[in-house]
Amino acid sequence: MLKGEKVGLRARHEDDIPILQAELHDDVVTSSRSQSRPWRPITPGSKDSQFVVDDTEERHVQFSVIELDGGTLVGTASLWGIDNHNRSAHIGLGLLPSSRGKGYGTDVVAALCHYGFVVRGLQRLQIETLSDNAAMLRAAEHHGFVREGVLRSAAWVMGEFLDEVLLGLLIQEWKPDSKH
Ligand SMILES: CC(C)(COP(=O)(O)OP(=O)(O)OC[C@H]1O[C@@H](n2cnc3c(N)ncnc32)[C@H](O)[C@@H]1OP(=O)(O)O)[C@@H](O)C(=O)NCCC(=O)NCCS
Repeated sequence: MLKGEKVGLRARHEDDIPILQAELHDDVVTSSRSQSRPWRPITPGSKDSQFVVDDTEERHVQFSVIELDGGTLVGTASLWGIDNHNRSAHIGLGLLPSSRGKGYGTDVVAALCHYGFVVRGLQRLQIETLSDNAAMLRAAEHHGFVREGVLRSAAWVMGEFLDEVLLGLLIQEWKPDSKH
């Protein structure tokens, strides 16, 4: 398990999936804001759930996020689009509504940076987020991610086109600040 200050990143367990489905996917607005495809209902137990992990998919590593104190599930995190030639990847995360605004997101970004840079030997990490996602932007910038550009009207979200911000962090800019 990867450890931050308050949260841990562990493998996905079967019984995490219905919770993540109900709290993240079934919230149409949150789901539409964090996915670049139209929301649709997913049948319980379906292999089509974004939270079902394919361990043979080498370019995508998914984690469940838990509180270190007690082990309660608080969200999901991933390193995706892993490119071992250019040594880059994207990071993504989503926390259950009751676990937002407690510093967990900032902690998850730290743990994903440790995984990408130290465990996987990558040299560049990237995040794409909606330009109005203040919490995601601050959690990323806290660890040194730099705004590299705005993708104007790149995301169709609930009836309107929204701008996305692209943030990048290079290993030489990264300042590891916690144990993992
Ligand atoms: C985005 C998300 C991962 C951030 O994690 P979080 O645990 O809520 O954020 P944190 O508590 O670590 O806060 C990060 C910073 O944002 C600020 N912040 C938190 N919630 C905020 C809000 N609703 N509005 C504005 N700022 C906010 C915090 O004060 C903190 O700033 P600081 O570093 O200056 O103190 C989380 O809110 C979430 O899962 N949201 C829904 C899904 C989502 O948007 N995923 C990202 C898709 S790219």
